[in-house]
Amino acid sequence: MNYKIAVIDGDGIGPEVVAAALNVLNAIGKKFKHKFNFKRVLMGGRAIDATGVPLPKETVSACKRSDAVLLGAVGGPKWDKLPGHLRPEAGLLGIRAALGLYANIRPAVLYPSLADACPLRPDIAAKGIDLIVVRELTGGMYFGKRGLREGKFGAEAWDTEKYNVMEIRRICKIGFETARARRGKLTSIDKANVLESSRLWRKTVHEMAADYPDVALDDMLVDNAAMQLVRNPAQFDVIVTSNIFGDILSDEASMVTGSIGLLASSSLGEKNPGLFEPIHGSAPDIAGQDKADPIATILSAAMLLRSLKLGAEANAVETAVKRTLSETPFRTVDIASAGQTVVGCSRMGEVVEGYI
Ligand code: IPM
Ligand code: MG
Repeated sequence: MNYKIAVIDGDGIGPEVVAAALNVLNAIGKKFKHKFNFKRVLMGGRAIDATGVPLPKETVSACKRSDAVLLGAVGGPKWDKLPGHLRPEAGLLGIRAALGLYANIRPAVLYPSLADACPLRPDIAAKGIDLIVVRELTGGMYFGKRGLREGKFGAEAWDTEKYNVMEIRRICKIGFETARARRGKLTSIDKANVLESSRLWRKTVHEMAADYPDVALDDMLVDNAAMQLVRNPAQFDVIVTSNIFGDILSDEASMVTGSIGLLASSSLGEKNPGLFEPIHGSAPDIAGQDKADPIATILSAAMLLRSLKLGAEANAVETAVKRTLSETPFRTVDIASAGQTVVGCSRMGEVVEGYI
């Protein structure tokens, strides 16, 4: 089959990790006889430099015309002084909104071969980590009304956390369905002891629970969840939560599995193609040095393949990553421990590719 993939290299380490993932996709194409046509489009800092805006219209239309979108990462100090709506991150939020990608799926798995990279106590790590964060992606504080004005004590600023039942229902449905297909446990994370929006969230998710008798639903306050992810991450199967809480908790979930350089994500909606990206940022401090970990982007490419209903191909990519980690001594610097061989981003990509 022929597939059209829109590719956003992005900023910082984005182009390096994307290059590794595209090589892996090409290897998959060769092995399984598919043709992936990559169409490069601009977003983020590079789009600002080239066009003056972080999300050019052509990018949105090219993404809509594709079968899936692969993204590296956007942002960097060069664009930090720009007003909010012109920052690279506004491009990312804009594409999520333009494609209606309300469901962000972020799996966090501790590979046995990376147990040494796990910062948790060995007895905690030994219980394993295999969870999925289902993060709401087009609502809440990221998209609520905000402002900045002169107040009585000088400048004051505000952001609004707002959710309606439709938004809560559709993301929790993904949470229930994801849990149903796994170990049947769903933890809904909120701050219902303080926030009205969380109380509506909690009420709604409980109303839905009757339709999923096979799923065990729990609530957890977000502060407790932050602690539980370190104390006993094995207790989690699927987490469903708001945009802001999901942003924070998924970084934490990634670090307890060894490195933020390992976590992939997919962002899905109803009508448009999905967007697949590592959860890490553009890491300007190591950009252009061939030090980045390409695994999160390679695993994002596996999620992309699965969204195209190419399950065997997706499995082949995941197996290649697992075998790289369990059968070779090669590691990028973020996950290397004593006695292992530190390699760069492109070499690490080649090793994975070799297992396709
Ligand atoms: C993420 C990132 C983004 C977010 C930033 C870059 C806007 O942290 O995808 O988790 O907050 O959603
Ligand atoms: Mg984040």
